Amino acid sequence: MSETKFTYKPNGQIIKKGSISVQSPSNIALVKYWGKKPVQIPTNTSISFTLNNCHTITTLNFERASKFEIDLFVDNKNNTQFLPKIEQFFERVKDYIPYIFDYKLKIETKNTFPHSSGIASSASGFSALAYAIVQLEQKIAELTTQQVMDKASFLSRLGSGSACRSIYGPLAIWGEHQDIKNSSDFYGMAYDNVHDVFKSYQDTILLIDKGQKKVSSTVGHGLMKNHPFAEQRFSQAQNNIKKLLQALKDGDVNDFIQITESEALTLHAMMMTSNPYFILMREGTLATINKIWEYRNKANVPISFTLDAGANVHLLYPKLYSQQVLDFIQKELIVYCENEQYICDHIGQGTKLIEANYD
Ligand code: DP6
Repeated sequence: MSETKFTYKPNGQIIKKGSISVQSPSNIALVKYWGKKPVQIPTNTSISFTLNNCHTITTLNFERASKFEIDLFVDNKNNTQFLPKIEQFFERVKDYIPYIFDYKLKIETKNTFPHSSGIASSASGFSALAYAIVQLEQKIAELTTQQVMDKASFLSRLGSGSACRSIYGPLAIWGEHQDIKNSSDFYGMAYDNVHDVFKSYQDTILLIDKGQKKVSSTVGHGLMKNHPFAEQRFSQAQNNIKKLLQALKDGDVNDFIQITESEALTLHAMMMTSNPYFILMREGTLATINKIWEYRNKANVPISFTLDAGANVHLLYPKLYSQQVLDFIQKELIVYCENEQYICDHIGQGTKLIEANYD
């Protein structure tokens, strides 16, 4: 699939100013993206649950100006900390959205999840920004709804890889796979060929350590380059995708648990065996995992975990077991959560437009 698909084709209309507000969720990978080639091309296919409650709300205000400028506001406060990443994003996408440079921008963004909770805001943040930009493009170019989503995903990827999956729900796949029609390294795709049990799956995120990560995902991806197990890992992921799609379709929760927990532990095993090596799990992460295994065997509740590149634990389970799991958290897991904090979330539908005004 060629990237020329995303070239801007103006329809001649000019918009002087306006504002576009969108909402975009975070996502949690089941088969993990860990390793990439320039520019933002994944070394294996990944698949994620799109979340619902953990999301970013972004308003893109734009007004025609002789000079391109970005003013960034996070939680109503002027922010310079995230500006370099946003500027890098605009540099990478400039050939695909030339129209944006005719405006000065005020980007206002806020997250529903607690600030510095250890939950990556780059996936929801970049997908929200990209989607808002493509909404503007839809006014001044000919784009179908599918093209809007694919281009938003394509741009999101250039901000942060996993962000390209947040555009779509209830699940999303990113990265070419020989068995998945239309899968692409350049943008994500929606995936919904799943059994009912997975359509309302829950994700309760235990905030084990809310501190800043010692090693960023971007650095972690880089360490896969000369990693001794890289090739085996990439082919394992391709294989796990295949097995997971079957489990999702069949409603096979046991296979789902086996594949996703192994993926989470493999991700962290890659970190522990890279050069330099590092550990992002904390004591509470390991204690929680052991408790989950104990409880699953004892109570016969199909609860499992996954991890992202941090210490927090995502508890995954069918909706039917919500009350039992919440009791279990209160009784056994809350001691491992910083300030007793956890976030209840579930599978969701992807990015959406809240409102738009044009002049
Ligand atoms: C462990 O998407 O944050 O969450 O592309 O460098 O921004 P960049 O990395 P990022 O990496 C996410 C890694 C992961 C797994 C996943 O979400 O698939």
